[in-house]
Amino acid sequence: MPIVNSANISVLVQRTLNLVDPRLVDHGLRVAYLVSRLLEVQGRYTGRDFQDLCFLAMLHDVGAYKTDEIDRMVQFESENIWEHSIYGYLFLRRLSPLGKWADGVLFHHIGAPLLNALDAPCRDVAQIINLADRVDVFVSDHGPDRPGLSAYLERSRGGRFGGEFVDLFYAADARFDLTGRLAGGEAVAFTDILPRVSLSDGDIDTYLWMLVYTIDFRSQHTVTHTITTTRISDAVARLMGMGPEEALHIHYGAMLHDLGKIGIPVEILEYPGRLSPQAMAVMRTHVSLTGEILGGAVDSVTTQIALRHHEKLDGSGYPAGLCGAELTLSQRIVVVADIVSALLGTRSYKDAYPKEKTLSILREQTARGLIDPAVVEVIALHFDEILSEVREHCTPVLAAYRGITAEYGELLRTYSALGTEKRSPSGPQYH
Ligand SMILES: [Fe+2]
Ligand SMILES: [Fe+2]
Ligand SMILES: [Fe+2]
Repeated sequence: MPIVNSANISVLVQRTLNLVDPRLVDHGLRVAYLVSRLLEVQGRYTGRDFQDLCFLAMLHDVGAYKTDEIDRMVQFESENIWEHSIYGYLFLRRLSPLGKWADGVLFHHIGAPLLNALDAPCRDVAQIINLADRVDVFVSDHGPDRPGLSAYLERSRGGRFGGEFVDLFYAADARFDLTGRLAGGEAVAFTDILPRVSLSDGDIDTYLWMLVYTIDFRSQHTVTHTITTTRISDAVARLMGMGPEEALHIHYGAMLHDLGKIGIPVEILEYPGRLSPQAMAVMRTHVSLTGEILGGAVDSVTTQIALRHHEKLDGSGYPAGLCGAELTLSQRIVVVADIVSALLGTRSYKDAYPKEKTLSILREQTARGLIDPAVVEVIALHFDEILSEVREHCTPVLAAYRGITAEYGELLRTYSALGTEKRSPSGPQYH
């Protein structure tokens, strides 16, 4: 059985981003629903492409999670359309399996004439997302006011939206009653609109890494910590001769173990020092948040590995206070990998611990009966080899984030110079 089946990928994405801001997730789902129906009538995309574009639509505002625009975005009156469009584009292009469609997000607030002038790739995708986005905003505010919506679309014809896309909307609305369904607040199950093209194991892995990378919307060091924990766990599993299936459980258990941290306030996550008991209590809830994300969507052996990464052999860990006999070797491996990763990590208040200090802390914890001695021994024996594997995997991801930051500034300068569309003075506040 796969660790996660394709259909559950969208569930994991929704649950994870819900912890950042559920309003954006709901908007993303409604836009994905509209886009799926528009694409169906358009007929240009099928199968995997169609499915990818629904994911893209769901994630079209993903950049807003990073660019402090959330409060403005959820009012849907943002004047400056570029920050979240550019960050979303860069994130999707570099850190998701949807890279080839990322232009559709970059240009999702751009009018047809400018898009044509830029000769942008994915032009029709950008226009369809743009249209779906504005229709959702309109219907959210006005209900199923078809004449009002038509008046807005006609005013936008040839400006914000190319005429063919306005007509595409009318055709899809006539066929699926989009306006009525949206206004009825009918919950749109994302899985219902997908053609259910199975993702390969490689694609599932890429989607799950994308989820890990979204933790950066809160905390970049947690992403590095996750990569480090995963690669240490992988190496130990291999060195201890775990079977292929168990190695997979360990890999994904480690990879997903701190996903719940996306729901912890940044002030606590990034606090430069020892946390107060109150703040620590909040921090500890990341385990149950991880449980809320993974529950029922990820295979249970993997989920248990993720949820037990703070348990200790003597029962002093959390959240369950389990003791040694209740913890499997796979779970114990991730517990130790998590500690090593934390010790090796650089934080604002601490330098990375050198090898000797890291090993002496591990030996001390072993002596106190907290962690598994066999796992610690393997790490001590192969420390340098494990660390070079970790570096090999962290380096390209850190380079990608640096690239995103650099390109973000550049693109913002370039595109801001093009200006933004202004609201129509006579029309409603949807530009
Ligand atoms: Fe947007
Ligand atoms: Fe949007
Ligand atoms: Fe961790």
